[in-house]
This record gives sequence, structure tokens and C-alpha cells, in this order.
Amino acid sequence: MRKIMVAGNWKMNGSKAMVSSLLDGLLHGLGEQPGADVVVFPPFPYLPQAQEILTASDIAWGGQNLNPEEKGAHTGETSASMLLDFGCRYVLTGHSERRALYGETDADVARRFEAADQAGLVPVLCVGETLEERERGETESIVDRQLDAVLQQAGIAPFARAIVAYEPVWAIGTGKTATPEQAQAVHAFIRNKFASLDGTIAGQLRILYGGSVNGSNAADLFAREDIDGGLVGGASLTVEGFLSICHSVHSRD
Ligand code: PGA
Repeated sequence: MRKIMVAGNWKMNGSKAMVSSLLDGLLHGLGEQPGADVVVFPPFPYLPQAQEILTASDIAWGGQNLNPEEKGAHTGETSASMLLDFGCRYVLTGHSERRALYGETDADVARRFEAADQAGLVPVLCVGETLEERERGETESIVDRQLDAVLQQAGIAPFARAIVAYEPVWAIGTGKTATPEQAQAVHAFIRNKFASLDGTIAGQLRILYGGSVNGSNAADLFAREDIDGGLVGGASLTVEGFLSICHSVHSRD
């Protein structure tokens, strides 16, 4: 059975003091063998600090983005090998804030996803529709298009390891969580799409939900058949907020 994953996307938040107290708090609060795979995504400058604190723990860490090129004249960018240098196992690709605020196209996201996979990182591919798109009834076609761009670039094989995060844009940072029914419907759509390509991969693929996940709604979301955990923004910035989500996971074994 797919193990639940709880991932904290810190976005552009943090300080040395905050990183150390947050991670120490998580290490103490999670206990031995948490029921979920737990991952944090700090801003780049704090990756060495995360590595130092989390090495030899059950908590993994990753980058919030990467550049698909190996190295060279790309001021301000970070490569897969740099993330690997600091022990990252995961990397976010195609977060809606990258798409909306920094102009990442489906093609850009696909290249980043492929570069991450080829370098040995586990890409977390974020997809999701805006409110206008949902209201126009386009949720499935938008998610389909975002997935197809990556499938055409990288093929199905990387999804034996990669993770998909369904994050409706209207639910991110708004306090408006998708209902478990709404989220489950899109997750089932995503899994069915993969099933039409490769049944084994589809059955193993972890599909996280993201968008205003908190300690009060996580258990209901994670109880749905095709919701394999959460990608958490705001609530991942405090020890209590993140732990309450991690502790609402019931083992699926
Ligand atoms: P949120 O962010 O939990 O603050 O809505 C989720 C995300 O952007 O990954």
C-alpha cells in the first residue's frame, strides 16, 4: 500500500533561528517511525542547516525548485547537483507560484522535472487549476494538459519514483480547502490517467493534496482512497501546525 507522505513547503519563509527551532521541534515531536514519510522544503540558503539537523533522522528534505541546466551562466539559479550536494532527496517542480509569479510554462516544468529525475532527485510535480478554470468546468483538462507536458518530455518511467501533488490554486494560502470529495475526484482522475499508461506505476504513484491543509482537515483528506498525503504551506511553518498534520495520519499497512 502507498505510504502517506506529509511534506512542508516553507516557501520564502524562515531564518536561522526559525529553522533550528522548527526542525528540533519536529524531531522531538514526531517520535520513532512516524506513520508517514515526512519531508521539508526550506528555502535554498537553509539547506545546509537542514542537512546538519536532519541527517540520521527520519525526516527528509528537498529544494523548492531547480534549474534544468547542469551549470553555467544562469545567475540566481540552482542545479540538481547542488541540491544533491546538500543531501536533498526531493525537489518541487511546477508549483503554481512558480508558474504564476515567475512565468514557468508547462514546457519549463517538464524540463525541470526531467532534469531532477535524471540527476537522481525525486521530483514532486505540482498541478492544479485556478478558480476561473474550475468554474468553467476545466479542472480535468487543465490537470491533463499539465501532466501531458511532463509525460511527453520525460515519459511514464520516472513516475515509478516521482510524486504528483494536486494543488488547486484557489485553495493555496486561502483557507479554502477542497472538500475531500472534490480532491478525491481529481486524484482519481489523475490515477486513472496514469493507469491508462501503466497499471503498476499508477497503483504505486503517490498523489498528495495541497491547499490549506491543516490539523483539522488532514485526517479526512488522507482517509480518501487516492489521497496519499499532503503538501502543506502555511501550517508547516509551526511545530504544532505541522505535527498536528503528521499525527493525523493513520497507518495504511
Ligand atoms: P498552503 O500552501 O498550505 O499554505 O495553502 C500549499 C502549497 O502551496 O504547497
